[in-house]
Amino acid sequence: MSEPILLLLSGPNLNLLGQRQPEVYGTDTLDDHVLASTETASSRGLALEHVQSNHEGELVDAVHAARGRCAAIVVNPGAFTHYAWAIHDALAAFEGPVVELHLSNPAAREPWRHTSVVAPVADGTISGFGSMGYRMAVSAAADLLDG
Ligand code: DQA
Repeated sequence: MSEPILLLLSGPNLNLLGQRQPEVYGTDTLDDHVLASTETASSRGLALEHVQSNHEGELVDAVHAARGRCAAIVVNPGAFTHYAWAIHDALAAFEGPVVELHLSNPAAREPWRHTSVVAPVADGTISGFGSMGYRMAVSAAADLLDG
């Protein structure tokens, strides 16, 4: 039997990690984070798929495509976190665990980052732990799947 799939979703501007505001987001690239996530997922018996997009609709489509096919979702929605209700609605229609992830701690930053429209449809949020957060979020999703 094939391994259950964990979908890692990355929102806008995360393709620039490593170059983008390293003082806030660190020097690891998105590929580095995907590799760490894949290793953690594999150690927990999960296959990892990754989708990055700068376009809200493509992330909505990726969540729809995960329905009935993927076991869990870890999502760093980037700035979409703060206003993208279509991503909220898509995640609400996903049946498995959802873990929201941020490299930085949005609650400690500008006021407009203090609202997450994703948090109400996530099982939980991991934020502020930098690159460690990817391993933590994948482990949290695996723990939720293990029940
Ligand atoms: C982020 C936090 C968001 O506020 C920001 O817009 C991002 C990255 C993070 O990982 O810390 O693009 O999601």
